[in-house]
Amino acid sequence: MNIGVLVSGGGSNLQAIMDAVAVGDLDVNIACVGSDNPDAGGLQRADKAGIPTFVTDYGALFGRWRDGAPLPEDFCLETVAARQSLMKGSDPDSLRAFLEKRAMAESALLAALVPYKIDLLVLAGFMRVLTPYFIDALNTDPNRPRIMNIHPALLPAFPGTDGYGDTFRYGCKVGGCTVHFVDYGEDSGPIIGQSSFSIDPGDDLDAVKKKGLAEEWRLFPECIRLYAEDRLNVVEREGTRVVEIL
Ligand code: GRF
Repeated sequence: MNIGVLVSGGGSNLQAIMDAVAVGDLDVNIACVGSDNPDAGGLQRADKAGIPTFVTDYGALFGRWRDGAPLPEDFCLETVAARQSLMKGSDPDSLRAFLEKRAMAESALLAALVPYKIDLLVLAGFMRVLTPYFIDALNTDPNRPRIMNIHPALLPAFPGTDGYGDTFRYGCKVGGCTVHFVDYGEDSGPIIGQSSFSIDPGDDLDAVKKKGLAEEWRLFPECIRLYAEDRLNVVEREGTRVVEIL
């Protein structure tokens, strides 16, 4: 099975996937690694492993995102809530400009992926929202979605760009991460796997992130393995699409 991986930042999840493949825990071919950010550390990790890489420079269109840095104002246009408010707002020119840029970026991303004939696209810290246009282009079979994401919180709690921060600031005693299929909503698709950890007195945000990432590195390759073994079945249960693990 061929997978493509998209990264925006350091790529520690990509590394965990590459390591699982290297030791024989995961039987997939990482066909390519792409990024919206030419400076993403994940691209260097892929280069070092001899995996083809490509960049679709969203930063040039929307503003740059960097690990740990505050999000640039334009970036916020890419959250679902901001897009919705733009749709309702009274400025059709900004809306048109935004949609045109978005279409350019996603067409370029899709075109870059085509030669690799991927069966599954894995979002490993890819910090851009994907629109229905992009999602539909990959999801040709409703029973076998083809885009998987990892999110740094126990969904459906704390969707958005700062799952561990939101979990910590809320005072949760348990944090976690979620691997899910991508649908049209923000971090809302059918859940494949989750892993939790305790947030102990004295843990600061850094400690929470460290515990969370350690769970992510274990969970993500495991979920990809389930997909590769064809053990994930998407079914409708009481009006919601959920994943059954076979
Ligand atoms: C992870 O915490 C992931 O859940 C989130 O972004 C982070 C990416 O980390 N979406 P890395 O680039 O894999 O190190």
